[in-house]
Amino acid sequence: MYARAVAAITAALLGVAALLLPGSDARAGDVVGEHVLVIGHRGASAYAPENTLASIDRAARLGVTWVENDVQRTKDGELVVIHDDSLKRTTDVEQVFPHRAPWKVKDFTAAEIARLDAGSWFGERYAGARVPTLRQYMRRVEHNHQKLLLEIKNPELYPGIERQTLKLLANEGWLDRQHVAGRLIVQSFSADSLKIVHDLKPAVTTAFLGTPRMSDLPSYASFTDGINPSYNSISTGYVSAVHAFTGPHGRPLTVFTWTVNDAPTARRAARYGVDGIITNKADVVRAALQAP
Ligand code: G3P
Ligand code: CA
Repeated sequence: MYARAVAAITAALLGVAALLLPGSDARAGDVVGEHVLVIGHRGASAYAPENTLASIDRAARLGVTWVENDVQRTKDGELVVIHDDSLKRTTDVEQVFPHRAPWKVKDFTAAEIARLDAGSWFGERYAGARVPTLRQYMRRVEHNHQKLLLEIKNPELYPGIERQTLKLLANEGWLDRQHVAGRLIVQSFSADSLKIVHDLKPAVTTAFLGTPRMSDLPSYASFTDGINPSYNSISTGYVSAVHAFTGPHGRPLTVFTWTVNDAPTARRAARYGVDGIITNKADVVRAALQAP
């Protein structure tokens, strides 16, 4: 039993190492503490407006290699990076289009969204930041030599978004061997969406957002490589149970937990044995994990 647990944990670490070390692509910022990956949630969203190019640039300056984002679609079919299904919270849409409540992303064209200020709500110094298209975002991630945990957000609102996202990623060069092997994970709260991604492009690493019952883990392991649960829903036992399953790429399932923004919680998650921590404050989590 002990040997099996050790083998499962070792294999899990090797699985993460495979994501971290595609050729010589790993960077010093990837691994901290006890080999726990730190992922910048919506970029460096404690320090810059979430999901903007400024946010991933800020993450890059913090030495954060992995960033997370949220992908949705405009009325005229452009993929954009934004978390909420409404533009209200993170842009000035109420001022620019006062008669268009409830300001859903899917009800605005890309040209309309491009007019919005996605930075002032966060701070004056970010005035003029835009909601990036996914294409613009991918180019900046590439420019910054970063890696991406891409969330397909609200896929039920956007039929076909999986195929469209994969097409864009392919066009941007992100489905070649090097990117797929170590620079891209696609995640979603929707198991159906991940199954579509897995069926369309089996080489792509995927992760399910949520905390499935342990008895359901075998079926998840048929289409996803990771389980990404909220930090307050996990325990050492749960993380070990996830690690005991092998995903579609022959590696133990990984666990990236969210959204951890303080040192004690980061250390607790690390003690549970998670492989990654998704955080708005990568600097805080990194320091916590490096502390003796
Ligand atoms: O990556 C985990 C996290 O992004 C899931 O929740 O609502 O921030 O997209 P949410
Ligand atoms: Ca997200």
